[in-house]
Amino acid sequence: MESSYCQLLLIAVLILALPVSSSSFSSSFTTKRFHFSVEWNTVTRLCHRKEVLTVNGKYPGPTIAVNEGDNVQVIVTNRVATNTTIHWHGVRQLRTGWADGPAYITQCPIGRGKTYTYNFTVVDQRGTLWWHAHFAWQRASVYGAFIIYPNTPFPFSPPIHSHFPIIFGEWWNRDVEVVEREMMLYGGGPNSSDAYTINGLPGPLYPCSTTDTFIKTVEAGKTYLLRIINAALNDELFFAVANHNLTVVEIDAVYTKPFTTSAIMITPGQTTNVLLTTDQIPDSTAMFAMAARPYLTSVFPFDNSTTIGFFKYKTTSKNTKFERNKPPMPPYTLPNNLPAMEDTPFATNFSNNLRSLASKAYPCNVPQKIDKRVVMTISLNLQDCPFNQTCQGYLGKRFYASMNNQSFVRPSLSILESHYRNLKSTEFSSDFPEKPPYVFNYTGVDPVTENMNTEFGTKVVEVAFGTRLEIVLQDTNFLNPENHPIHVHGHNFFIVGRGFGNFDVVKDPKGYNLVDPPERNTVAVPMGGWAALRINADNPGVWFIHCHLEEHTSWGLAMGFIVKGGKEPSQCLLPPPSDLPPC
Ligand code: C2O
Repeated sequence: MESSYCQLLLIAVLILALPVSSSSFSSSFTTKRFHFSVEWNTVTRLCHRKEVLTVNGKYPGPTIAVNEGDNVQVIVTNRVATNTTIHWHGVRQLRTGWADGPAYITQCPIGRGKTYTYNFTVVDQRGTLWWHAHFAWQRASVYGAFIIYPNTPFPFSPPIHSHFPIIFGEWWNRDVEVVEREMMLYGGGPNSSDAYTINGLPGPLYPCSTTDTFIKTVEAGKTYLLRIINAALNDELFFAVANHNLTVVEIDAVYTKPFTTSAIMITPGQTTNVLLTTDQIPDSTAMFAMAARPYLTSVFPFDNSTTIGFFKYKTTSKNTKFERNKPPMPPYTLPNNLPAMEDTPFATNFSNNLRSLASKAYPCNVPQKIDKRVVMTISLNLQDCPFNQTCQGYLGKRFYASMNNQSFVRPSLSILESHYRNLKSTEFSSDFPEKPPYVFNYTGVDPVTENMNTEFGTKVVEVAFGTRLEIVLQDTNFLNPENHPIHVHGHNFFIVGRGFGNFDVVKDPKGYNLVDPPERNTVAVPMGGWAALRINADNPGVWFIHCHLEEHTSWGLAMGFIVKGGKEPSQCLLPPPSDLPPC
């Protein structure tokens, strides 16, 4: 059992039938129930017809909408031969780690024909999050919006006429499972996608795609809330709307100080709510293009294409949903406010403008002091090719990726179960290095291409309940420096500092923002730089920390993070649900 106090408490609860007091069991909640059937469906894009893994046959998947404080139950049935899990990206899962979803971290996968109910309560979060499969590369098509309506009015103006998701994804003409398998088999980089999509539609810049264009009809003179989600597998994206500014009001379901910008940068895993006011004079087409294309920091082959959709002004009111009607005639011009693919200054400036609202009603609870600092390097690795194999990575080696030179290996039983049942020694160990194993000039000008082997293991960082933790993520020039979107499960964090070059433990903390730093669940660690995160470790359980570029997660850019149970009944992990899938 995870800690003797929590175990004793559980026994007392069972024997004496004591009420368990926690927000998860508060008496005033409403339960919202959803049914998810994971199944194949035939989808055609770019004139390629193929079987795509979906939820309820939909690509992208259905939107979940709940109210702040709701108890949510999603009954997931796996109707395909392969295993699956679903993750509620950004939902904090207070004490309900069993419902978090990453395969082999908090649960064993849901097998063919099996059902598992994800049961959790949305506590003190409001805005846009999303859900996606958390098994292999299934999230390429298994994803959707997760909207939490606030219990109190928006802290921003003007009033919203309507709101809708804008979800970016990636489309492969090939079977994504095969793309992933080949990458892991031969150790090379993955095939890049064939298109980016807006709400599943690539738009008219791709071959055979004119009718697959996202067109949203809007009324002139109104303000719309766009719930922007980057569900792409491997690419950070810029997004802009021709002639219109965007006002950021929320990131990762946390309100921000509103700021107006010509475009946004959004990494896989991040969500950004923006206001758009339809205050422009339309031309004869009445259409304004919206576009997304990658923010490029990698030397790997990548998809350098652009997805576009349109806002269509209308004068009489008729609320249309995701329309697939005709875009204007070509040629198409990209919004001139769309940043160029290598525009790191734009990405940096955009991130620096993000601030928590930090109002009385929505305070910013950033830890002012810390109990522990962990420094972690982020690296791509080149592993020597095993004898008798052919490897397709650089220099005939294999690509891997690591944090503090540890490449994460998934165990055979979920870490949360091992932890709960105290099976530590066999399935994982709590000795994840809390400092880089070798000190070198992490961001020196020359890429490091020698001695780039990594170590493999299932190691976690373990902290006591209530630890005020600082994690410094340090990018490295192993192979090449790159912007990495690092995602933490089970907790939001505060990005108290970011910078280029090597983190300086004496100088850099002096520049931290401890007043209104952005609070999120996914941070873009600057290419060739660092980011400092502060976390209140107040959610007992086992949590995955990983790069949200799927190729990097596959290569091992991940780790486990354990928060032990506390002294109060409300500080203990709840017992596992009876339908938790077995391994
Ligand atoms: Cu959005 Cu571990 O994932």
